[in-house]
Amino acid sequence: MTDSLLTWRKEFPILETCTYLVSHSLGAMPRKTATYLQQFADEWSRRGVRAWNEGWWDVGRTTGDLLAPVLGVQRGTISMHQNVTVAMAIIASCYRFDGPRNRIVMTDLEFPSNLYLFEGFRRYGADIVHLKSPDAMRTDLPAILDAIDERTALVPLSYVLFRSAYIQDAAAVIEKAHSVGAQVILDVYQAAGTVPLEIEKLSADFAVGGSVKWLCGGPGAGYLYVRPDLAKTLEPGIVGWAAHAHPFEFEAGAIDYAEAPERFQSGTPNVPSLYSARAGYEIVAEIGVPAIREKSLRLTRRLMDLATEAGFRINTPDEDARRGGAVIIDVPNGKAVADELIRREVIIDYRPGAGIRMAPHFYNTAEEIDHAMSVLTDICKSNR
Ligand SMILES: Cc1ncc(COP(=O)(O)O)c(C=O)c1O
Repeated sequence: MTDSLLTWRKEFPILETCTYLVSHSLGAMPRKTATYLQQFADEWSRRGVRAWNEGWWDVGRTTGDLLAPVLGVQRGTISMHQNVTVAMAIIASCYRFDGPRNRIVMTDLEFPSNLYLFEGFRRYGADIVHLKSPDAMRTDLPAILDAIDERTALVPLSYVLFRSAYIQDAAAVIEKAHSVGAQVILDVYQAAGTVPLEIEKLSADFAVGGSVKWLCGGPGAGYLYVRPDLAKTLEPGIVGWAAHAHPFEFEAGAIDYAEAPERFQSGTPNVPSLYSARAGYEIVAEIGVPAIREKSLRLTRRLMDLATEAGFRINTPDEDARRGGAVIIDVPNGKAVADELIRREVIIDYRPGAGIRMAPHFYNTAEEIDHAMSVLTDICKSNR
């Protein structure tokens, strides 16, 4: 079978140098990213301060609009931020935690910075309900649904868990949250660019993520989607002058909020990061996430079959419908084995309590999967 997505390989220089199976952590850099970064440098160098009026000031909105089809949301609903932590903090700053609806419900398999951030809101009266998962792979959906009640303000929920690539049942959580007046923040970082998303159809209240992984957009381009009808009613406490309706009036006193998405903006946009994110978004949008997903399921299945044959334990759901883009393989001395794989130019990563994470993306070949698994098997055999 010919794989038409492999025509993209030549656009990713790192693929010529190693077996790159780490797009759940840092997606490969598109060749065109260098062109966009050069464009930023040229604009700064040649246009100077005039560049603000020639695209720089609006770069948050225009970058968010490029992402909108990948997330399955309308244009004009996404603001850009440094990372997920900042986007989550802006959301949390829209709420009060000194009344009866002061609960934040989350599981221990959320990404740590989300846990750390909301823990910090205890000082403002937030009551954090921290649900323990039955294992390192799955969360307990009935327990999450039970914990969400009239006291719940927010439910931060990873669409795909970073530790196991488990796809959570976001629709069930959103339905329960809405039935009691609570709101859900979907962290779609481990999904965007590899698992098709229809965030608007899901009626998610918020979605956050970044560009470092499957979107091949590099660091510094976090995104925040807010449901348009909800966005009108929210007044973030963490704001800067870019969130003002008339920033260039430089008015003193309280802020007069801009319409969304600018009202969720802080200060000056991070122009070079947003330029560097563009090439990855364009490529992912051109291929289309459904085609990426179809290939991803095929290659992750191949990886899991080979891992099972070799007798390794897999910490990733077997069902296609519940598995994101990565496969986590638990081997003895996982950290040392991961280091040796990297030394042999098979680029993966390791997470304590989970195992070696490997992830094929649209630019990987079936032969690379076979090669990575044969190197892994070889290392494990010689360790025995
Ligand atoms: C699900 C998820 N959320 C958040 C993050 C990172 O958050 P931040 O953008 O704040 O670094 C990661 C990984 O880096 C992740 O996998």
